[in-house]
Amino acid sequence: MNYEFIIAESAFQPHIALIRLNRPKELNALNLQLMQEIKHALLTFDQDDNVRCIIITGNERAFAAGADIKQMESKTAIDMLKIDQFETWDQIRKTKKPIIAAVSGFCLGGGCELAMTCDMIVASETAKFGQPEIKLAIMPGAGGTQRLSKAVGKALAMEMVLTGKFISAEEAMDAGLINRVVPEELYLDEAIKLANEIAVQSPVAVRLAKESVLKAFDSGLQEGLHFERKNFYMCFASEDQKEGMNAFVEKRKPNFTGK
Ligand code: HXC
Repeated sequence: MNYEFIIAESAFQPHIALIRLNRPKELNALNLQLMQEIKHALLTFDQDDNVRCIIITGNERAFAAGADIKQMESKTAIDMLKIDQFETWDQIRKTKKPIIAAVSGFCLGGGCELAMTCDMIVASETAKFGQPEIKLAIMPGAGGTQRLSKAVGKALAMEMVLTGKFISAEEAMDAGLINRVVPEELYLDEAIKLANEIAVQSPVAVRLAKESVLKAFDSGLQEGLHFERKNFYMCFASEDQKEGMNAFVEKRKPNFTGK
């Protein structure tokens, strides 16, 4: 598929795929087609055995300044209902391989929701996170009220969602929203470094572990523990488990194949 609003590379680095949001003049505002393109690229990468980790990024000025306001401006509630854009967002959440958001500049509204739908966030010092929808007389609709509250707690989430204020990368780090803050020129390199740390692990174990951590966010403790246990047992069905433990015993580096 030829993409208009993203650049997608399945072999950006060995085992690492990259999606670059590419509407720089509009600060990567997320229009419906761009979201469809992200969904398509993620589905493609999920089926590609060579891809073990995915990075989504924008540019220095903006990761994404939110959903495309110009595209939404004249819509009615029924238009929005019929468009059913959240089916696309649900698909992003269902991606089995780990996704890292590499964020610089504006990361707002739907942009912040997209970053939070990823599994980890690496940010440049210049990143600004916010849910400014309230200033447009709307509210977050792609998980912002839920994921932000779970990540940073009620007090800060309520303040951000009700006032639209932005927080800096450092504040986001202190609040537990993101994994790393680095100088602007290093944010993509740092995301690649993190992706490489994941890419050397067993793809089977990574998939089962990611699924289990995500389960913690939509289940009670007992159900989550039950789910974790099943995935733990499942790891022992892989050749990688034998290789990993064998390599430890033989004092060598493991070579994981995803089988
Ligand atoms: C459409 C946008 C946009 C957006 C910026 N642009 N954000 N277009 N949708 N979300 C466009 C501007 O209109 C402008 O186009 C160009 O990008 C550059 O933006 P400026 O405003 O001139 O830049 P600056 O003065 O530096 O201000 C940056 C900014 C501001 C603070 C990020 O652009 C801003 O407040 N943007 C909107 C942020 C926002 O409210 N996001 C939430 C959207 S609602 P022109 O043509 O004038 O040059 C949402 C709901 C999600 O995300 C629901 C789930 C899907």
